[in-house]
Amino acid sequence: MSDYTEWDEYYRQYPLEELGWELGKPRPILVEYMEKGLIIPRGKALDICCGAGTNTVYLAQNSFDVTGLDISRTAIEIAKKKAHQAKVDINFLAESFIDLPFNDEAFDFVFDMGCFHHVEVEERFKFIAGVHRVLKEGGVYMLTCFSYKNGHSWNHFTKQQIIDLFSGAFELGEVRHYSSLEGDGVIRFFYTALMKKKPLPK
Ligand SMILES: C[S@@+](CC[C@H](N)C(=O)[O-])C[C@H]1O[C@@H](n2cnc3c(N)ncnc32)[C@H](O)[C@@H]1O
Repeated sequence: MSDYTEWDEYYRQYPLEELGWELGKPRPILVEYMEKGLIIPRGKALDICCGAGTNTVYLAQNSFDVTGLDISRTAIEIAKKKAHQAKVDINFLAESFIDLPFNDEAFDFVFDMGCFHHVEVEERFKFIAGVHRVLKEGGVYMLTCFSYKNGHSWNHFTKQQIIDLFSGAFELGEVRHYSSLEGDGVIRFFYTALMKKKPLPK
């Protein structure tokens, strides 16, 4: 599902505490990778599908020059308020992840919490090519997506599927499988994969 109306409806209808993906704090795995130095907080970061901006603000508080992009205008308004309260400067855009409105090689880091798994099957390679295009050479993409362990679905992935989808354009590092108690009180399973942009063959 990547439709504007449906997503905006979530943010207009429900308080943030009732949204499954909204933990009210930055994702623990993002914090862990930053603290372990697996993500170097230098340069420009894109939070793709930034939602209400919780992780976006964390990235900005940790020295990244951050852009947050989400299709929901309501989510972007909430995220702007959050950034204002946290006194951080973030460039927020209400745009779609299809046809990313950025120059080539604009970012050092792309953070994706729960974005790729909402990309329609037929748009997946376009999405991957977009992330690859906007990353600088050697830039890092951090993917977090639903795991097959949540039950069979078109957007629940195995490790092998992640490898098959991304290894053409990215050099994969750690691919971690874990469970997480989500904002709605449900335990869900995820993969987080850290990967580095590969140069495309000439
Ligand atoms: C599961 S939520 C994750 C939000 C945020 N990353 C977080 O962790 O709180 C998925 C987000 O993707 C956004 N989204 C869905 N389709 C999109 C599209 N085509 N372009 C940009 N954002 C989209 C939704 O509005 C929603 O905020």
